[in-house]
Amino acid sequence: MIKIENLTKKYPGAATAAVKDLSFTVPSGEICTLVGPSGCGKTTTLKMVNRLIEPTSGGIYLPDDRGELVNVMDVNPIQLRRKIGYVIQQIGLFPHRTILENIATVPKLLGWSPERTRRRAEEMLTMMNMPVSFLERYPHELSGGQRQRIGVARGMAVDPPIMLMDEPFGAIDPINRNLLQNEFLRLQQEIKKTILFVTHDIDEAIKMSDKICILNVGGHLEQFDSPANILSNPNNEFVENFVGADRALKQLNLIRVEDIMDPDPLLLEAGRPAEEALAFLRERELGSIFVTGAGKRLMGYVVRRDLRGKTGLVDDYVVPVETGIELSTTLRDALSEMLMMDYSSVCIVDAQNRVHGLLSIEMIQKKIAESKYNGEDDDQQGNGA
Ligand SMILES: Nc1ncnc2c1ncn2[C@@H]1O[C@H](COP(=O)(O)OP(=O)(O)OP(=O)(O)O)[C@@H](O)[C@H]1O
Ligand SMILES: [Mg+2]
Repeated sequence: MIKIENLTKKYPGAATAAVKDLSFTVPSGEICTLVGPSGCGKTTTLKMVNRLIEPTSGGIYLPDDRGELVNVMDVNPIQLRRKIGYVIQQIGLFPHRTILENIATVPKLLGWSPERTRRRAEEMLTMMNMPVSFLERYPHELSGGQRQRIGVARGMAVDPPIMLMDEPFGAIDPINRNLLQNEFLRLQQEIKKTILFVTHDIDEAIKMSDKICILNVGGHLEQFDSPANILSNPNNEFVENFVGADRALKQLNLIRVEDIMDPDPLLLEAGRPAEEALAFLRERELGSIFVTGAGKRLMGYVVRRDLRGKTGLVDDYVVPVETGIELSTTLRDALSEMLMMDYSSVCIVDAQNRVHGLLSIEMIQKKIAESKYNGEDDDQQGNGA
């Protein structure tokens, strides 16, 4: 873990502090994001953790080899930096060194053999989805996104338990950025590093973080909380403005369809006579219903008025569904799809098109209303306490 306590940094000659009385803890194996406007002290905070900058007052505590917390000020800076990977803002690759030499920076300091260093560099490139042939290239021979990945690989080269990452995906277009974020989150599930991550992009913070630390200019902490709480219950106007007017929609990014769908919806089985299906819909006052075939596979839906006065099987009147929403889809993507297709409800299916549940726009509305209510409820408790 990383424990930050009453941390303050005032640069010599500066009128105000860059970081002021900052306290928060990053639990082991979690990603905590520092987010806030330019100049609010994010980089300064990161650099105090690995002692590239000395704090004016306060402490930063990390576990030592026996797991006991020690103040970084009592640790030799060189030894400290061996267990802390650092991904520098603006990538910062050495232009006249090959990718291999860049990745080898810290391993070399640690006296690794050339063979071991090369093996690790190859492993890192594979992990980052890049060919090992890149090792012989120079930074200018890679794209911006590839360079950024090399920056991340360099920070992780000696497999440090703690990572400091300063806008690691800042210089990449939105599409590749999204891919890199996903790759990194997948990787983090395996490697479980304790990560202090800096960004000025609130969407990236919401996506990447277990906890978010929202800073204001002067290094003032506005809120330290989970992404869901920051969205549903912002502490004040600054946080509210920072997360944006679309925070209800952003919240939908954090919820998966399977979390709120009706897992046991009313469905109609194919093979039934049309008259019987019509009676079924009338009895339940339904205008339409989804129809499933063998193995609960989704066939489509029937509309009540299409069945009026009809004979034969209901199968002849099924309208196929144009979209299949899967269990792990986020509510935001599901809603977007529903609006685009003009469906007020959809069946949730697996890869074999088997129905696992049903999602309606109403359920999504209810979920948003619930989290809003919870937020207000917390507020009242807070005021009363
Ligand atoms: N070496 C320095 N000497 C004096 N002031 C500094 C120094 N480094 C940073 N500052 C000031 O401290 C404040 C915080 O800077 P910092 O680099 O931590 O901001 P940041 O949140 O990382 O911003 P950005 O999003 O632009 O990277 C700024 O006002 C900056 O001008
Ligand atoms: Mg910065």
